Amino acid sequence: MTKNPTSAASSPELPVSNSPETSPPLTDSHSLKLILKERLKKNIGIKGEFYLPCLPSMLDDYLKLLSDFLKVLGQNLDAAQTENLRTLIANALTEGFKNSPHANLIVSYFPANPQTGLGGGITLNTKIQVESMAQKYHTWPDIRPEPLFGSHPDAKVMAIVAELGEAGKAAILDVGAGPGRNSLPLARLGHSVDAIELTPIFAEKLSAAALAENLPIHVTQGDVLDPLLRMKTYRYKLAIATEVLSHFRYPEQIRLFLGKMSDAVLTGGFILFSTFLAVDGYEPDEMAKQMSELCWSYLITRQELEAAIEGLPLEIIADESVMEYEQKHLPDSAWPPTPWFVSWASGRDLFPVQETPPIELRWILVKRL
Ligand SMILES: C[S@@+](CC[C@H](N)C(=O)[O-])C[C@H]1O[C@@H](n2cnc3c(N)ncnc32)[C@H](O)[C@@H]1O
Repeated sequence: MTKNPTSAASSPELPVSNSPETSPPLTDSHSLKLILKERLKKNIGIKGEFYLPCLPSMLDDYLKLLSDFLKVLGQNLDAAQTENLRTLIANALTEGFKNSPHANLIVSYFPANPQTGLGGGITLNTKIQVESMAQKYHTWPDIRPEPLFGSHPDAKVMAIVAELGEAGKAAILDVGAGPGRNSLPLARLGHSVDAIELTPIFAEKLSAAALAENLPIHVTQGDVLDPLLRMKTYRYKLAIATEVLSHFRYPEQIRLFLGKMSDAVLTGGFILFSTFLAVDGYEPDEMAKQMSELCWSYLITRQELEAAIEGLPLEIIADESVMEYEQKHLPDSAWPPTPWFVSWASGRDLFPVQETPPIELRWILVKRL
């Protein structure tokens, strides 16, 4: 979609001269300099793009950014143009954000008339560029060092698995399995593993790795939140979703996920997942919530988590810091799991502060009643 919201005309303050036939030549060098500077604008070109993440809560800031930018270039938007731009940006942000937290509003700017350059006003065009999470992940194997999510399985996962009893009798569901950081070691222990993975390239990698070692892993490529994606019911002793809920978008999706897990897991079985929780006393506003999606750190409050679980046959039995647990229990050689892990899990990808951020990645262990 390309839209042309506005052309902002410049308002030069030229010295006024008399009629050319009657007036004597203008020789005042100060006036002539101003005239030349104004004349030069016809020959000044300008062209560029803003990439603005589609976060509806940022509307006023983006509007100010653009009008300040135009002002610096000597272009002033009148009230009607400002309103026009506001409506256009508001609609684009809403539309983009609905599609993905990784959508960008691209605002391009260039002279309204190439013959008059900067002197003839600037035109702004807008278009939305949507990139899904799976599209973003698709490039990871090419641009990031292996192993993408760490060389070891999560220590917390392995600690719970150790309590499950005979591996051959304890089937495990790995939701958002990625290339198999947890699925592969669990299957090597003898567990039958069903993996669900949204990003095709990861699902393919995991299938290939399982096949190469003849491991009991069955991979389904799909979205766990898709109502049409059915899972086996009453089958698993453990369901895990590690570093996955950070991609969710609404509290209703947490409830849907937990509902599906409670159908899939056996009575007495467990669901282990990691999620970013706001610390008590911090109530995230719309901007923080939208930014948390952009920063792959989808954020909920404890009240939202409790509401998501209410009425389901589930009980939260542990809630602890992922960072603290994993740092303590992983071998030294495996810490940190990736170069980005500490910043992300501590909440600093969203709040880059020296102090303690008001959110943190937590291990939530739930028992199926
Ligand atoms: C950060 S990676 C973690 C991979 C693996 N769980 C691990 O801990 O190594 C997140 C994974 O979750 C997957 N994912 C995110 N949302 C999903 C969904 N709704 N259904 C299935 N997979 C999903 C992504 O494609 C990605 O592979």
